[in-house]
Amino acid sequence: MHPTPDEDQVLPGQVLPGQVLPGQVLPGQVLPGQVLPGQVLPGQVVRRLRAAGCVFAEDEARLLAAEAAGPEALEALVERRIAGAPLEVLLGWAEFRGLRILVAPGVFVPRRRTEALVEEAVRLTPPGAVVVDLCCGSGAVGAAIAAAVPGIELHAADVDPAAVACARRNLPGVPVHEGDLFTALPPELAGRIDVLTANVPYVPTDALALMPPEARDHEPRVALDGGPDGLALARRVATGAVEWLAPGGSLLFECGEGQAPDALDLVTATGMDARLVTDDERGATVVVGTLS
Ligand SMILES: C[S@@+](CC[C@H](N)C(=O)[O-])C[C@H]1O[C@@H](n2cnc3c(N)ncnc32)[C@H](O)[C@@H]1O
Repeated sequence: MHPTPDEDQVLPGQVLPGQVLPGQVLPGQVLPGQVLPGQVLPGQVVRRLRAAGCVFAEDEARLLAAEAAGPEALEALVERRIAGAPLEVLLGWAEFRGLRILVAPGVFVPRRRTEALVEEAVRLTPPGAVVVDLCCGSGAVGAAIAAAVPGIELHAADVDPAAVACARRNLPGVPVHEGDLFTALPPELAGRIDVLTANVPYVPTDALALMPPEARDHEPRVALDGGPDGLALARRVATGAVEWLAPGGSLLFECGEGQAPDALDLVTATGMDARLVTDDERGATVVVGTLS
């Protein structure tokens, strides 16, 4: 015979009023994997991004989901991405040499291949050097050099007010000047610049139409168009650099692989020594001109 339980005694297996059992679903409770009305599942996001041609669809889905405040915001981001908006513009930032660089709509998104230009610039920059980043866009190049070399005197400049505003956010405390190439710079920098970086636009005008829509439709023409042979801006920068570089100072700019012979020639024509740095992994070609 079983003993008779006390009134307050809870017996094994007994369910008390209001007690939640393991596995029991409460009203309004969301279960793992449950689809809510209007919710976009990460798996669906990955599939949709992949179908739209995003090569790194899983990474993109994860980044967009982390940025979105909720399912509706995520759906809006996914739709804009599928329509061709650059991932970095949707996120509001781009990774560049381990830094999170803020990007704004209408401002050139820094490319990973430009890290090769930065690495060569860092090699040429002693602590305390005067560094100028012309055609600075978001300010990524200057920010990455400043992060790698202590105590430099950095200036940045761009002709596009949207780029200047964006660079000012990425380079707090750094003078960011607005204007056409060297005319933007304070005259006292003339003859004092140790390292001059200029990731000039270098797409030949006729080739703009062949660019991926992400760049063609979302980045301003002024950031891409390098004139008839793609080297018009590089030519102007190299010609001006002779007056602005300190003795022994260097100019660095990027160009396409096929443009390299002409790019070297245009630097040599200014009287500077010219050499090429290539990085096959990143697909980068960097021209370095040094004033003797
Ligand atoms: C290819 S983007 C490079 C931006 C940035 N340096 C980077 O690597 O991400 C070229 C930049 O040059 C700027 N630019 C074009 N023509 C210019 C000029 N005449 N004077 C100054 N900046 C110019 C554009 O506004 C754009 O921001």
